[in-house]
Amino acid sequence: MTSTAAGVVVVGGGQAGFSVVSTLRASGYDGPVTVFAAEPHLPYQRPPLSKKAHVEADGIRVELVPETFYRERDIELRIGDAVVALDTAAATVVTRAGEHFSYGHLVLATGARNRPLPVPGADLAGVHALRSFDDALTIGRALATVRTVVVVGGGFIGLELARVARARGADVTVVELADRLLSRAVSAQLEARLRERHERAGVRILTGTAVQALQGSGRVERVATSQGVLPADLVVYGIGAVPRDELAREAGLAVQDGVVVDEQLRSVSDPRVSAVGDCARHPHPHADGLVRLESVQNAIDQGALVGRRIAAGSPAPYESLPWFWSDQGDVKLQIVGLRSASDEVRLVPGDSPERLAAYAFRDDRLVAVETLNWPAEHLAARRLLERGTPVSNGDLAGTTLGALARARRAVEVRT
Ligand code: NAI
Repeated sequence: MTSTAAGVVVVGGGQAGFSVVSTLRASGYDGPVTVFAAEPHLPYQRPPLSKKAHVEADGIRVELVPETFYRERDIELRIGDAVVALDTAAATVVTRAGEHFSYGHLVLATGARNRPLPVPGADLAGVHALRSFDDALTIGRALATVRTVVVVGGGFIGLELARVARARGADVTVVELADRLLSRAVSAQLEARLRERHERAGVRILTGTAVQALQGSGRVERVATSQGVLPADLVVYGIGAVPRDELAREAGLAVQDGVVVDEQLRSVSDPRVSAVGDCARHPHPHADGLVRLESVQNAIDQGALVGRRIAAGSPAPYESLPWFWSDQGDVKLQIVGLRSASDEVRLVPGDSPERLAAYAFRDDRLVAVETLNWPAEHLAARRLLERGTPVSNGDLAGTTLGALARARRAVEVRT
């Protein structure tokens, strides 16, 4: 069976795919728009899942918009319908049911999948990863009855879930393979202070520790690690994500830990295919070489850029300033900009003990700012970095970004 949609086909019903289709219509595109959303749900937000969905009632609403949104805009939303193959020569996708579907332009918004835990016993009952809404409900139900939780991976998912489990009264141990937490995302300087806060909240943290096996009869009971055996009624793991780029790879498009795209987010192998969100590897003015960013901001902004390009034919490079956030118990971590390992990092205390910032400089120019419980400083950093006005270490001697931004605004008003 072959359907014809000369218009836009989007593979992936997450935040990035939603951003593409909503922007297409908002920008006046009136051709056919079809979204293939493999999960059995309306497109929904993922950020609440590891933060609070599972501490609230099962019925929590995380949908981005109600079903009527799609109907009113004539967007064909194919829920539970997965694309399993792509033929770029014929400009068609093939669904799991065997339907061939033509496209004028294809957008891959397929996201990422969790890296599986590579140890014996990972398939025991009571061992869970978190990615989908259904995963969040399963973990939420499990947390209602367990006493001892082992969290494998001290990244975003691990730390958010560790604090949720702690808030529900569980004994929580985080087992992290690297020698510190959040090594992908946060400077060592800020990490040390973040770790103290989690330990103060009663989370036990083992870094530089390998999980060797999960043990139990039918259900997990123990976690064998390089630092000894830990009891566990529940194991949750978040040890990173890998992009879902296999459709592109099998179709012969360039793939390198993500679909390789140009500055307008078009596949470097085929300009009729774009990729957005977690699955795209792209150039960025703030990065050396290609990057792949796993964040909601990136998913929304990339989807919007591609939606506008297709609707209006207006080519624009992707250059949104990257920012991230994570709510970990009483700690709000916010990050703006892209830091690299060689940047010089300076910690700056806020005006109350829970507030802290880390400024990262490259060649004496501010490139990234991490904050704990200091949203105003994060926003000031975003404004300054967005404007592109250089800020040096000297500019910030004895002051904060918030104060510097206010001073610069006052000068602008006077002149
Ligand atoms: P992550 O990359 O943030 O953290 C993974 C952690 O697991 C790292 O600290 C890594 O060193 C550690 N690790 C790797 N292998 C391990 C092993 N065998 N044993 C123990 N530790 C190991 O990835 P995470 O937390 O799994 O999150 C997955 C995705 O979800 C990412 O895309 C992340 O950005 C996203 N996410 C983002 C949130 C946010 O921005 N607030 C919140 C939750 C998830």
